[in-house]
Amino acid sequence: MEQQAETKKRIFSGMQPSGELTLGNYLGALKNWIKLQDDYDCMYSVMNMHAITVRQDPAELKKRSMEVLMQYMACGVDPEKSILFFQSHVSAHAELAWILSCNTQMGELSRMTQFKDKSKKHADNINAGLFTYPVLMAADILLYQTDLVPVGHDQLQHIELTRDIATRFNHHYGETFTMPEPYIGKAGARVMSLQSPENKMSKSDPNPNGYVWILDPEEVIIKQFKRAVTDSGNEVVAREDKPGVTNLLTIYCAVTGKTMEEAEKEFAGQGYGTFKQAVGEAVAAELAPVRERFSQLSKDKAYVEEVYKKGAEQAARIAAKTLRKVYKKVGFVAW
Ligand code: TYM
Repeated sequence: MEQQAETKKRIFSGMQPSGELTLGNYLGALKNWIKLQDDYDCMYSVMNMHAITVRQDPAELKKRSMEVLMQYMACGVDPEKSILFFQSHVSAHAELAWILSCNTQMGELSRMTQFKDKSKKHADNINAGLFTYPVLMAADILLYQTDLVPVGHDQLQHIELTRDIATRFNHHYGETFTMPEPYIGKAGARVMSLQSPENKMSKSDPNPNGYVWILDPEEVIIKQFKRAVTDSGNEVVAREDKPGVTNLLTIYCAVTGKTMEEAEKEFAGQGYGTFKQAVGEAVAAELAPVRERFSQLSKDKAYVEEVYKKGAEQAARIAAKTLRKVYKKVGFVAW
């Protein structure tokens, strides 16, 4: 058993507990995490150290971090198969981030679109952590000698930078880090806002009609989809000049596993109203068991605590190996 686990490739991914998880988080990442659990050695973490790059209320952050962990589990991340933990429980993340930050250029970080977007959005708090955020993300990934990182489309630039940092480090100090690859699912890698389909669905969207939370009750989900903006005309087809309908079709395909052609055929000749109702129902049906499992887990705090404590121990052991190697490579005196 142990032997077999060691030959599997490693997966690492995580989410920031900076808000409720949305359908975008679910379709872009979580759904793939679940699928990959049997074939890979998976580690899924709650990225609470990343979350404080934006001002957080401490009590809220703590509560939300627990909820995010429980949402991973409610969606189907199985602690018997995957390692689940809080980023802040493994100090090696911060330690490796320091070393990597000494191997990352200011210019590289200045080009990150997430930094540019977030510094516009939080103009009163452009802190150094917001700038060096991608270095911490590189540390998260490289610490576990990760092969694959299942994420949505918006994280590709950060993974590209992680690869650049790893290449540079390996070149300078000798082979140290496994080169990670992004894993992007076939459908759902870019779920857009239901109100402004030119922007991604985001938990920090000021318009609450733009997103669906994965714990929303069925009737709320259906209502959100009924309200979703569509485009002129009445054809249900995926086309560049129809971003609203395309987004809804993409969501429908990601949830049902149907191809775009199949979905277009299914709704051919039907109006937007019927179409939106069907998408809403499909999403609500997919998320109903998640809400149910979440509510069960909420009543079993002791079990959840056991999971993340064990996860932290397992993660720390793996991380320590890499960190020791890195310290040796850069010339720190062994202890
Ligand atoms: P975060 O918390 O913004 O998002 C978590 C995951 O959800 C995906 N996602 C989406 N996918 C499709 N459509 C959307 N509208 C959508 N919104 C979010 C994201 O791509 C991501 O996969 N920096 C990361 C967290 C992180 C991380 C890591 C991820 C920190 N360290 C190491 C992987 C590996 C972030 O802010 O994700």
